[in-house]
Amino acid sequence: METKFWQVSRDEPQQDIIELAALMIREGKLVAFPTETVYGLGANGLDSQAVQKIFAAKGRPGDNPLILHVAEIEDVYTLARQVPPAARMLMEKFWPGPLTFVLPKKELIPDAVTAGLDTVAIRMPDHPVARALIKKAGVPIAAPSANRSGYPSPTQAGHVWDDLKGKIDGVLDGGATGIGLESTVLDMSEELPVILRPGGITKEEIAETVGKVYIDPGLYDTKQVPKAPGMKYTHYSPRAQVILVQGTPENTARCIREMVKEYDSCGKKVGLLLTTETWEKIKNIKVFYHKNIGSRHNLLTVAHLIYSELRNCDKAGVDVILTETYEEQGLGTALMNRLLKSAGHHVIEA
Ligand code: TXA
Ligand code: MG
Repeated sequence: METKFWQVSRDEPQQDIIELAALMIREGKLVAFPTETVYGLGANGLDSQAVQKIFAAKGRPGDNPLILHVAEIEDVYTLARQVPPAARMLMEKFWPGPLTFVLPKKELIPDAVTAGLDTVAIRMPDHPVARALIKKAGVPIAAPSANRSGYPSPTQAGHVWDDLKGKIDGVLDGGATGIGLESTVLDMSEELPVILRPGGITKEEIAETVGKVYIDPGLYDTKQVPKAPGMKYTHYSPRAQVILVQGTPENTARCIREMVKEYDSCGKKVGLLLTTETWEKIKNIKVFYHKNIGSRHNLLTVAHLIYSELRNCDKAGVDVILTETYEEQGLGTALMNRLLKSAGHHVIEA
């Protein structure tokens, strides 16, 4: 299949391109588009056959439901049976933005979107290209992250191209995404608000509006099944092995030096994705691939870079990626959730 690639202006997306892409969505085709979190792979969310193509293109397990992307808060009422007042308040506060709501679904939503569940996930992305596309298409757009299943999510159009070229109909290139980690998935289909996937909007921010917020115990307890089916799979993993090193910058630096030496001696190529603070301690080390992914005091940069750096390590031919852990608060919670999954929970105490 030929995959079209359109460059669009982020802030003022060209009308003719958006119209073409929106027409393709309405015709049941697959178009990838930028959001403020990661690139999404979009299809008409009310067209069961179109939605099934998403699963085929990504190699995504059929029991993992999709998020419907809308352009207005009012659109939620056509898709959800109930919208609790607290959910509405959160929508008014955080939309457009990286917060997804799980709500009881209405009949018109195809089973392919929800993987047969009685709930549906909905969010309004904060990106001019995404919003223009959804508005023009006139339908909710079902979209998972536009990577092949299991690989790190795409934060640039080139990542989508690498993963899905020839398998989808088009890619809208609106430049690099903002946050670089996916949205927070918040279950509001039951009595208490529960975070099913930590993301761009933090637990602390949600709690300010609704009081107590819970975190799905299945995210931490390996004996329990996570409620978001997507959280049970190995995920966000590059081809290279990922290992997290935990400790003070001094200890981390020392431990990494030793590990690099050891891997070197057995001919393994190491990639180091480390923070400024650790680089300051480690100084001139000779290693196959390295990148400063920002300061621990500004996790926005780390989040923005992490997926594309995991991909860059693969492109460079790295065998083992050594990277760090973060405190699980604020954006650090989402970052650690993704890193632990990409490392298959392989953490070394420095
Ligand atoms: O930032 C994002 O959320 C990006 C952009 C493209 O919007 N999308 C994204 O979609 O990350 P995806 O499909 O990669 O992840 C959606 C997550 C999965 O873990 C899925 O299992 C969960 O949301 N999910 C979707 N519908 C659900 C439902 N009804 N109940 C529980 N979990 C649900
Ligand atoms: Mg995904």
